[in-house]
Amino acid sequence: MSIQYKKILVTCALPYANGSIHIGHLLEQIQADIWVRYNRMIGNKVWFICADDAHGTAVMLQAKKRNISPEMLITNVLNEHKLDFFKFNISHDNYYTTHSIENRTLINEVYDILKNSGYIKERVIFQLYDMKKNMFLPDRFVQGVCSLCQAKNQYGDHCEVCGGTYSAMDLINPVSVLSYTKPIARKSLHLFFDLPYFTNMLKKWILSGVLQNNIIKKTQEWFKYGLKKWDISRDSPYFGFKIPNYVDKYFYVWLDASIGYMSIFKNLCKKKIDLCFNEFWKKDSTCELHQFIGKDIIYFHTLFWPAILEGLNLRKPTKIFVHGHVTINGDKLSKSKHTFMKASDWLQNYDSDSLRYYYACKLSSNANDIEVNIMQLVQKINSDIVNKVVNLAVRNSSFIHKKFYGKLSNVLDDLTLYNQFLNESKNIECFFDNREYSLAMKKIMELTDIANKYINDKKPWTLDQKNNDKLHSICSMGINLFKIIVTWLSPVMPELAKRVEYFLNKKLIWKELSSPLLNHNINYVRVLYERIN
Ligand code: MSP
Ligand code: ZN
Repeated sequence: MSIQYKKILVTCALPYANGSIHIGHLLEQIQADIWVRYNRMIGNKVWFICADDAHGTAVMLQAKKRNISPEMLITNVLNEHKLDFFKFNISHDNYYTTHSIENRTLINEVYDILKNSGYIKERVIFQLYDMKKNMFLPDRFVQGVCSLCQAKNQYGDHCEVCGGTYSAMDLINPVSVLSYTKPIARKSLHLFFDLPYFTNMLKKWILSGVLQNNIIKKTQEWFKYGLKKWDISRDSPYFGFKIPNYVDKYFYVWLDASIGYMSIFKNLCKKKIDLCFNEFWKKDSTCELHQFIGKDIIYFHTLFWPAILEGLNLRKPTKIFVHGHVTINGDKLSKSKHTFMKASDWLQNYDSDSLRYYYACKLSSNANDIEVNIMQLVQKINSDIVNKVVNLAVRNSSFIHKKFYGKLSNVLDDLTLYNQFLNESKNIECFFDNREYSLAMKKIMELTDIANKYINDKKPWTLDQKNNDKLHSICSMGINLFKIIVTWLSPVMPELAKRVEYFLNKKLIWKELSSPLLNHNINYVRVLYERIN
């Protein structure tokens, strides 16, 4: 019988190349990476891609601040981001940039198709113009009050509070962030994508099982107001790709970033000859596309993105998976409150697995915010991972090394208990698959408690020389339960898993959960996981 496995493409939203990776970005990457690693372990073929979002005013402003060119900024930032993700064991198959030859080529192709199909049209509109700087003020060059929800200090394209998108002209009391003056309105020719044309398709599509229930509701609210044509062009000066046949017009960063999902994969196909771009992106593709995003960018992914794909006659996502935001003391990460924790700051004090485990304990399939509390994290790691999981290995392996030259017994002491663990594996798989990580972690810790209780009840330390065989099979049982537990944890804690593989002298393989280690030599390891302070 041939094994049925799925081919899955997984993406995270593309972080802006205007600053460091912080623990908010890491929430998304870790959530996706756990899912990716789990799926790889159960035998699915998964490609995990991401990139820096290199264009637009966020990058321009940061480059200006650092007094370097945008090109220089995005090169430096890309290297830094790659290193951060590597250190957190985010297992991307490709981490690329939207400032690439593949993306430039693809956006031109996309533009041609959409334009020739009549989905892109010109319109003369009023744009905010800075008289002092003599330039148009798109997106982050201007701030004001959101006309949809009245939130203060919002940028010109999209409100971070209500998630709405609009034109900078809609802002109430706009101010130029370059000159702090009040901009005037000036005419400009812009290009619009006909989002309203796709309304009926989108209304149906969002109900097809791609979204969480609350996200369907959120998206339906936007239909109530009626979808608007989407301005995909920006006036010079802009850092991005030029629109062909126009003077001084650029593609809006959100258009080329979305196309980025495809161009990153195109770049990967160049490196992997067995990968086929069309197999994944053609309309009737049987490959799956799972996309992880934060709740602030729902509009772009549940409306613009599927509409573009429809316009191109390509496949749409299988799932768009929305998470909440990381908060500290109930607030957003903030530089002024010193709660803006960069990935590199984290690693100065703690290891990467600790954040991964902590997030796993907090993540579910909903998009609620995730409060990070360091005291709680330290306590959780020490009590779950050190006192429960690692302790199970330590207390049993000490006998195996002292009395049996590091060799496990050829029998398990309690097959019923072993089978109980195996039966629970189905539930844990289900939790991982449905992104219910907190339920998976809870179940795993319950079972770890059961394993420790089993050892407590058997009291191997009371057994004398005559009961050596019994002692041997009890401790070997303990080690085998430990092996199952760490196999379940390995998508979450890859560093721990690596050390345990050395300790057990065996690769941790999901499909081999039902094969216990018998008559098998294990290694001595001084510390499997360091208690944290
Ligand atoms: N560049 C866009 C995405 C383009 S995708 C075609 C962007 N970049 S971002 O750097 O601002 O955010 C990248 C991802 O990180 C988004 O999904 C965003 O929701 C997520 N997060 C950024 N800050 C976050 C928190 N504080 N908490 C959780 N996730 C957060 O948006
Ligand atoms: Zn708003």
